[in-house]
Amino acid sequence: MQQIQIETLSKTYPLYLGNQILRNLNDIIEQVKPDVSSILVITDEAVDAHYGEQLMTYIDVKYQAYKYVVPSGEKAKSFEHYYACQTFALEHQLDRHALTIAFGGGVVGDLAGFVAATYMRGISFIQVPTTLLAHDSAVGGKVAINHELGKNMIGAFFQPEAVVYDIHLLETLPEKEWRSGFAEVIKHALIHDIGFYNWLQKNIHTLEDLRGDKLIYAIEKGISVKASVVKEDETESGVRAHLNFGHTLGHAIESECGYGKISHGEGVAIGMLFAMKVSNALKKTSFPVAEIARWFEQFGYATMIPSGLSKERLLTKMQADKKSKKSHVYMVLLEDIGKPYVQKIDDELILNLLAEELKIKP
Ligand SMILES: NC(=O)c1ccc[n+]([C@@H]2O[C@H](COP(=O)([O-])OP(=O)(O)OC[C@H]3O[C@@H](n4cnc5c(N)ncnc54)[C@H](O)[C@@H]3O)[C@@H](O)[C@H]2O)c1
Repeated sequence: MQQIQIETLSKTYPLYLGNQILRNLNDIIEQVKPDVSSILVITDEAVDAHYGEQLMTYIDVKYQAYKYVVPSGEKAKSFEHYYACQTFALEHQLDRHALTIAFGGGVVGDLAGFVAATYMRGISFIQVPTTLLAHDSAVGGKVAINHELGKNMIGAFFQPEAVVYDIHLLETLPEKEWRSGFAEVIKHALIHDIGFYNWLQKNIHTLEDLRGDKLIYAIEKGISVKASVVKEDETESGVRAHLNFGHTLGHAIESECGYGKISHGEGVAIGMLFAMKVSNALKKTSFPVAEIARWFEQFGYATMIPSGLSKERLLTKMQADKKSKKSHVYMVLLEDIGKPYVQKIDDELILNLLAEELKIKP
């Protein structure tokens, strides 16, 4: 079992990474939170069906442990499910010394983390991620639910006591979720670590290559990048914005297609290629975008913007991005691999490049 220390201004905590390490959960609870009164596990239906019972057997009977199951998917990050979690905690008389365990992907991590951040003004929580994408979301302490007017609009910065990442849990992950999570792994390499990027290109040719030691290495590197960015900027006032590489257009595509139609990672993959094109146009960099797109295609990513989307609507969505200022689009671009910067982009350049992507006349 490897241990990576996650350091932020507000808290330092361990992340444990390995295969079949979930059975150590009880020891980890005792180490990081010895005075726990009771435990609330929040999970979703799919994760519960595969591992719910098993997880509960790893928690010592001396704790009062309760499990609350939400539906799978983004819909669980709603006020309704947030409220239901709080009601469940109150009905079971959880006190301020209770511990929440977020057992699932990014959705459960965000929801359970926000429940923990706000229940009785904050109780401890541990992240037990079960998706590849959650190597990203479980680290850094951003927790949130959605409002019908925007994703992740109601939330907090709230760090967990520990993260327990058991790659054994990924064995049941559907292929599209591997694809979605791997885009964030590539993103971490592109914004921070050329050596890791070269390693990925050399070693990972299909999603099936992401197994065993290679998977652990890729996750460890991805987490290290996220950890180093978060260490420098916990609350997203500076370099943490670089984590949005590929997300400005990615989010716009996700939203225009309708959430769930295209996965987060698939949108981000197209967004990263687009950001490299913008970088080439502005800084005269020479990213071999077509070659990188062919590598992406080996994992089953669409590398073109889905046809039928309107460039004007995509631009409007990009202008509404949380990182935009006064309706101007700000994108994370690359000077080189590992050297990101944020730049305001003219609408005209975006429209021209989108038109090229969509193969329509500007
Ligand atoms: N907090 C952050 O810093 C941060 C960063 C990135 C993304 N996010 C959030 O993460 C969410 C996306 O996370 P996600 O991609 O993990 O989605 P998810 O949590 O919805 O999981 C994807 C699907 O896989 C299923 N699943 C999860 N683990 C499984 C397993 N081991 N075996 C079988 N099925 C399993 C889930 O039930 C779900 O249907 C979004 O809401 C996004 O906003 C947060």
